[in-house]
Amino acid sequence: MSAHIGFEVNPHKDYQRLQVVTLSKDLVEKFDELTSQYDVQSIEYKPFLRFFIAKCLSDLTQNTLGDYLTSTLKNRSTGAILMQCIDPEGISKSHDTFIDLNIRISTAISHLIGLPNLDSMSGKFYARFSVKNEDNSDSYLRQAHRRMELHNDGTYVKEKTDWVIMQKMLEKNVEGGDSLLLHLDDWQELSKFYDHPLAKKDFQWGSPSSKNVSYKTSHPIFLDDDKDGNPMMSYIDQFVEPKNIEEGVYLYELGESLENESNTYHVKLPEGSMIIINNYFWVHGRDKFTANKNLHRELLRQRGVFAEYKNETTSN
Ligand SMILES: [Fe+2]
Repeated sequence: MSAHIGFEVNPHKDYQRLQVVTLSKDLVEKFDELTSQYDVQSIEYKPFLRFFIAKCLSDLTQNTLGDYLTSTLKNRSTGAILMQCIDPEGISKSHDTFIDLNIRISTAISHLIGLPNLDSMSGKFYARFSVKNEDNSDSYLRQAHRRMELHNDGTYVKEKTDWVIMQKMLEKNVEGGDSLLLHLDDWQELSKFYDHPLAKKDFQWGSPSSKNVSYKTSHPIFLDDDKDGNPMMSYIDQFVEPKNIEEGVYLYELGESLENESNTYHVKLPEGSMIIINNYFWVHGRDKFTANKNLHRELLRQRGVFAEYKNETTSN
């Protein structure tokens, strides 16, 4: 068991696959001291700065954090982390500095584990978005009144999407809206869909205009198995485009099965914390909120790939 320096790890009290990582107050304060001179705009404009602040965080943990995160995310039996970044009694600062610090922390995390993909919706390496009580957008992403069904990210883009970071920066007047997580190996009807003749047949994928992805892609619901022969999935209900009744019915039944699965985790995410999951063996979603006209939530997401070279440089 390798040492954890500057952070603690415990399994979630209700959900054993989910690992709760708590960064110490001291670590967060030192990270803040080292990196507060870099504002968010400079991090957006200069890609190398993102790696520099990742190095700052890594050094403070004597390089234990990146290795822990990467091995946990790749581990089939876990693959999911709830990272609590801020001691709520600890750093009390203004709203803007709190948000900036959170952006720097999630940027450092994403660059410790790999490289974020360009988020075509925002045109940046991350996307920030608000969830309010009313919304007129063209997907369920920002709509508060309904459940966002379980899905994988990156289904309609050509890049690989190994992991997803979902960070909650701020929350007001929120009741409900838990994060939903389901590990493929806990899905009781997995074999019904995985052993189906359509499981590894190509489907077409597209996306609405807000995503700024003009092309369509093609891939199966169940991708090539992992190196140990375990299923890997890439599915979302809204962006898969069935071509006939057989495909439509398969997708409909698969979606119903996911939504009715009793092994789904319902996770509360405190302000200033984030969930990091392996995107190919976890599906995620969001429960609906209780109606409140002042409901407001500020979220940040990053999606990307693992740094494959890391294994070679850290194994010696
Ligand atoms: Fe998602």
